[in-house]
Parts: sequence; C-alpha cells; structure tokens
Amino acid sequence: GPLVHVVGARPNFVKAAPVVAALRAAGLPQHVVHTGQHYDERMSQVFFRELGLPEPDVDLGVGSGSHGRQTAALLTALEDELPARSPALVIVYGDVNSTLAAALTAARLGVPVAHVEAGLRSFDRSMPEEINRLLTDRLSDLLFATSPDAVAHLAAEGVPADRIHLVGNPMIDTLTEHLPRFDPAAVRAAYRLPDRYAVVTLHRPANVDSARAAAEAVRALREAAAVVELVIPLHPRGRAALAAAGLDRVPGVTLLEPLGYVEFMGLLRGAAAVVTDSGGVQEETTVLGVECLTLRPNTERPVTLTHGTNRLVTPGTLAPALRKALKGGRAAPEPPPLWDGRAGARIARVIAGWLEDRGHG
Ligand code: UD1
Ligand code: UDP
Repeated sequence: GPLVHVVGARPNFVKAAPVVAALRAAGLPQHVVHTGQHYDERMSQVFFRELGLPEPDVDLGVGSGSHGRQTAALLTALEDELPARSPALVIVYGDVNSTLAAALTAARLGVPVAHVEAGLRSFDRSMPEEINRLLTDRLSDLLFATSPDAVAHLAAEGVPADRIHLVGNPMIDTLTEHLPRFDPAAVRAAYRLPDRYAVVTLHRPANVDSARAAAEAVRALREAAAVVELVIPLHPRGRAALAAAGLDRVPGVTLLEPLGYVEFMGLLRGAAAVVTDSGGVQEETTVLGVECLTLRPNTERPVTLTHGTNRLVTPGTLAPALRKALKGGRAAPEPPPLWDGRAGARIARVIAGWLEDRGHG
C-alpha cells in the first residue's frame, strides 16, 4: 500500500511539503489526506499552492469544534478513510488534533505510524498540544526528531532507540527552499507598512480564549506599540476576543488577515523583532536571526533559546524586553545542528529503508 500523509492545520502543511517532495523524488507511492481542520483559503489552500504540495487526494471537511467534538469528527472520518487506502505507513506532523486523531486511528487499525517532529515537550499539560504530542509519540513506530532534547525526552519515556531518528527540521527545509522569495520591501509596499516594525502573532488559547487573557494581551500590546509599530496578521482564533478587548483601537497597530507563507516570511524577514506564541515562528526567527519574544511561560522548543534569538516573556515584561531587543547587539548563534534544509531527504531515506526491511516495494 501507499504512504499516507495526514495533514489538517497550517503548521502541518509547512512541515509536510519537504517530506512529500523527498518521498516523491524517491519514487514512493503516496496519498495526502487533508482532514479539513483548517479550511479558510488563507489557512489552507494558499499553502498548497505556494509550497508545491500536491492537491490533497481527499478533504474530509472536518472543520472546527470543541476538542471533543473536533476529535470525534476526525476519528469518525479517518476510520472510514484510512482503511480504504490500505496504507503501508501513516505519516503525521506536529501536535494538532488532526495529528493525534490520525495516529490513534492508524494504531487501532494496526497500521504503523511515523511522527514528524516527535519528542518535543513543554511539560505543560494545560496545553492541548502537549497532550497531542505525548499520545502521538506513544502510538508511533517511527519517531523523527528535530533536536537532541526531543531524542532525550523520548528515550526517557522508554521509546526504543531504534525507532528514534534525529533528522533535523523540515519546517526549516521549507524556509531554506523558499528564502529567495521572502521580500520584505514587497510586503511593506503591499500593505503600506512602516520601514521599522515588530511582527506579532498570537493564537494560543491561554493568550486569547478568555476575555481576561485577551485583555491582558491587549494591554501588553498597547505598551509594545508605544515602543515600535506592530504588524499583526491575526489568526482567526484570536480575532473576536482580541477585538472585543480593544485591539482594533490601539494606536501603532496594523491588523492584517492571516498571510500566505511567502508574504508572512517576507514580513518576518524584514521585522525589527517578533512577538509570538507560535511554535513554528520561534524556529523560523531562530534561523532568520530575528529577535523573538515568546509570550508564554514555557517552550517545547528550547533550542530556540540556546541556539536562537528567542526568549520567553510575560505580558508584564514584553515592552521592556522589546526595547532591549531593538537595541540589538546580540550576535545570533549558529542555527541548531541539522536545521540545514535536508531533513525531508533524511526522513525519506529512513522510510525507504524501513519499507525495504518489511518487504514493501
Ligand atoms: C490549531 C492547533 C494549534 C496550532 C494551530 C496552528 C489544535 C488543538 N490546535 O489551533 O496547535 O498551533 O492550529 O494555526 O489542533 N478557524 C477559522 N478558519 C479556519 C480554521 C479555524 O476561522 O480555517 C477558527 C474557528 O473559529 C475555530 C478556531 O479558529 O474554532 C480554532 O481552530 P482549531 O483548528 O480548532 O484550532 P487552532 O486554534 O487553529
Ligand atoms: N504562517 C503563515 N502566515 C501567517 C502566520 C503563520 O504563513 O499569517 C506560517 C508560518 O510559517 C508559521 C506556520 O504558519 O510557522 C505555523 O504557524 P502557527 O503559528 O499557526 O502554528 P504553530 O506553529 O503555533 O502550531
């Protein structure tokens, strides 16, 4: 049977693109199943177009809902879809609900699972993603890690060493491949942005879901906007709560729709600093050498602190940290080992060997 990639949310698409490309180059048959967790043109289709991902073979149209409802819809749809494709291996990405649902469905069907971006841990179980990471890794047969800390977490949890492969970071493959297209001047012109700005992305439930959290975030952003102009391509999740908390009326803030990948990365590349609660953005700023302030009490990506420009901030420390970051003077360290644009090829090599060992193809 084919390799079946299951993707559903924006960060999945950015991570899957280089893996799909490398497996295609290796001549292995593969299908792409889109769960439909993300469905807006700007949260989904734009990535397929820009990143050369093949059109999904199917879109399950699962859509939004509470964790229970969304997960139930994912499990129901995948339980019908996956057996029909007789996968040799199901490949899942990152830590979204689609990731866990696909791993769980495959495991129950007796289909082996490969997890790309395994072993990351925030040790904060109030994050839905931490639960997804723990359970997905538990169910996986092949675990592809982006950094040595992830390998250590998996080993400490008892995952046999021969299942774990340190391959680097496929999200950085995508960045490396498309870097020449990231054009800050073009993005500034398209959205009439100032020359000097900080980019903000916020979508974590802890920062935007409750009225109280949103009010605290807006207060912090108001202080930050007094330091430097802010450009905020807003995730749909934060839109209502942050607007209700008055973000639309903060001086020095430009609110944008979510951007396509190439424009977003152009915006990041030209930024004086970045404020975020995104996982991927912590990694991308690490490689671009852009100062990154992460509005979270923890990160599952500690190499961005040790090998990058990232630091953790609270709503109270954001503005002073931003002032300091803008003064610069901090030399960007070397990017983490193996974040070199070749993670997809390494993953493809491991999967090809794994298939051969099992007498496939
Ligand atoms: C999901 C992931 C999160 C990841 C983020 C990346 C889970 C538990 N969370 O969070 O880890 O960082 O994706 O972007 O899987 N919505 C739209 N249009 C869309 C998609 C969503 O308007 O195309 C709105 C809906 O109101 C929806 C809300 O955003 O209820 C949340 O969407 P959902 O996919 O449940 O979680 P995210 O917050 O996007
Ligand atoms: N991204 C984008 N446009 C945006 C915001 C993000 O193209 O407006 C890209 C960017 O590459 C980022 C990825 O989408 O790393 C995933 O971002 P998100 O913050 O949604 O997910 P997370 O990494 O937090 O799970």
